[in-house]
Amino acid sequence: MMETDKGVIFDLDGVIVDTAKFHFLAWRKLANDLGFDFTQEQNEQLKGVSRVESLKKILEWGELELSKTEFKRQMALKNENYLSYVAKMDKREILPGVQKIIDYLIINNVPFALGSASKNARTILKKISLLEKFDAIVDGTDVSKAKPDPEVFLIAAGKLRVKPENSIVFEDSVAGIQAAKNAQMLSIGIGDPKTLGEADYVFPDFTKIDLDFIKKVLTK
Ligand code: BG6
Ligand code: MG
Repeated sequence: MMETDKGVIFDLDGVIVDTAKFHFLAWRKLANDLGFDFTQEQNEQLKGVSRVESLKKILEWGELELSKTEFKRQMALKNENYLSYVAKMDKREILPGVQKIIDYLIINNVPFALGSASKNARTILKKISLLEKFDAIVDGTDVSKAKPDPEVFLIAAGKLRVKPENSIVFEDSVAGIQAAKNAQMLSIGIGDPKTLGEADYVFPDFTKIDLDFIKKVLTK
């Protein structure tokens, strides 16, 4: 077994599963129904961001203001639409390469947590049969401050009993990488280095991360 006092925190959407595409589809439908559109580039700014903050940004892009009631109704509609995609998920949706890393952490007794902004995190983890594997789960129902605030990752590290500076975060969003940095954690971006340039390391996906690399960051 490996000697380490480190712990790992995974973001969910866009890291463990490709639900980022479902969020995009659902937000885009909302915008289209309200009479405007936004680009994939703008969508990068929504990744990692809470549901409320996402809708605020989108309405700014569309130069629209909604009443409180209508704002709530639109959030509910978006979530309903999003969950219709989630309903079809099963463990085949776990992104390639993720399971191998989770298995490696389990074998080596390295604690790992989920650190997600989503209020749907537990539903999704259940659908992909990963709910029981995590040592701790911190999601959108546990936090009051959205990424890039470090709150979600600090709570997760606390639950793992791992110091922030000994925590390693996997993230696909700019806001999430900033949150990891704000928490003094090592950040590993999953996605495009042009977007995630602030991360300590960036990989296009988990299949490009080998176990030697994981061992290196866990033991240094
Ligand atoms: C993050 C996603 O993980 O969760 C965001 O990257 C999403 O796109 C946020 O808005 C909140 O998710 P949910 O499921 O609570 O609407
Ligand atoms: Mg994400």
